[in-house]
Amino acid sequence: MKAIAALGPSAAHPEGLLLDTTLSFPPLPGPRDLRVRVEAIAVNPVDLKVRATLPGEGPGRVLGWDAAGVVEAVGDGVERFRVGEAVIFAGALRRPGCQAQSVLVDERLAGRMPANVSFAEAAALPLAGLTAWEALFEQLGLDAEGGDQGRTLLILGAAGGVGSMMIQLARRAGLRVIASASRPQSQDWVRRLGAEAVVDHSQPIGPQLDALGHATVDAIANLHDTDAYWTLMAERIRPRGSIVALVSSQGPLDLNPLKSKSARFCWEYMFTRSEHQTLDLAVQGQILDRLADGVEAGSLISTAHTRLQPISATFLEQAYALLQEGHALGKIVLSDWA
Ligand SMILES: NC(=O)c1ccc[n+]([C@@H]2O[C@H](COP(=O)([O-])OP(=O)(O)OC[C@H]3O[C@@H](n4cnc5c(N)ncnc54)[C@H](OP(=O)(O)O)[C@@H]3O)[C@@H](O)[C@H]2O)c1
Repeated sequence: MKAIAALGPSAAHPEGLLLDTTLSFPPLPGPRDLRVRVEAIAVNPVDLKVRATLPGEGPGRVLGWDAAGVVEAVGDGVERFRVGEAVIFAGALRRPGCQAQSVLVDERLAGRMPANVSFAEAAALPLAGLTAWEALFEQLGLDAEGGDQGRTLLILGAAGGVGSMMIQLARRAGLRVIASASRPQSQDWVRRLGAEAVVDHSQPIGPQLDALGHATVDAIANLHDTDAYWTLMAERIRPRGSIVALVSSQGPLDLNPLKSKSARFCWEYMFTRSEHQTLDLAVQGQILDRLADGVEAGSLISTAHTRLQPISATFLEQAYALLQEGHALGKIVLSDWA
């Protein structure tokens, strides 16, 4: 099968290298596995983080954890899907990625693909949708069904992959979203997705919150730089509010400023369930099904913004270069094999 092998940094290729290659098809699926024919993929910063740790020579590794495709074989114990059904999934970081024509994924980590979108549109949903859902409704403890109507959520770095899903999910749950975006295009994008107000993260954010009449907010989702926004978050979180962050800090974080407010801080890591094989692993498949329901009902839209074709080392390198610029709108997706 066709696949793309990633090599880590070397003297000749300081960013790493991607190579079109041919691999044997994955072995027969394990008891809970689906073997999926990959039709479209999305790229994520985690791909680049993993690529940076790979050796600069050798056979390379297949990256990519965001895909839409069709089930082509199932393991003995599979209950949720049949051959021929279309699915979306992020999968598990410890397994080979989806930048190959065929990949194995545990059925509990897969969800059905919405019937009203293309494979490319569907590939934008899983990793960012799972992260946004878990961050909002599990880690921040907000109510997906509208029980937190009117509460305010500040999203730092809102126009990218995760933020674009988070704005929609939060709005749908009745939250008032203040989104950070620094450019006219990204500000327009977050407004269109449902942000009520926008702050520019290239300028000090505190005074902008004051000007909006939101000196403090009920919840904060930091999708960018935990250290850089730590003081702002500690100052601006409302007493008994909650903060979630996605990106590891460079140094220790001082939790003391949150004490007098009884404010909560938590991490979100989308691969926790698969990495630790938690007992509630199957919740990820359920979340993906709920995202599919939302897309079919029209309460969520795919955030596929930049589309490249076909899936090849050349176009994947283009996608990674765009991602590395750090100003992606929504998701960058690739579809179809040459
Ligand atoms: N823990 C997890 O499970 C998990 C899951 C997914 C992602 N992540 C991490 O979360 C981060 C975001 O992921 P993503 O996929 O959303 O990335 P992304 O799509 O590449 O994010 C791009 C966005 O970052 C914004 N940005 C640039 N500079 C910023 C700044 N100084 N402050 C705030 N925002 C800024 C840009 O907005 P402007 O263009 O308007 O400047 C752009 O829209 C990455 O570090 C990723 O590795 C973690």
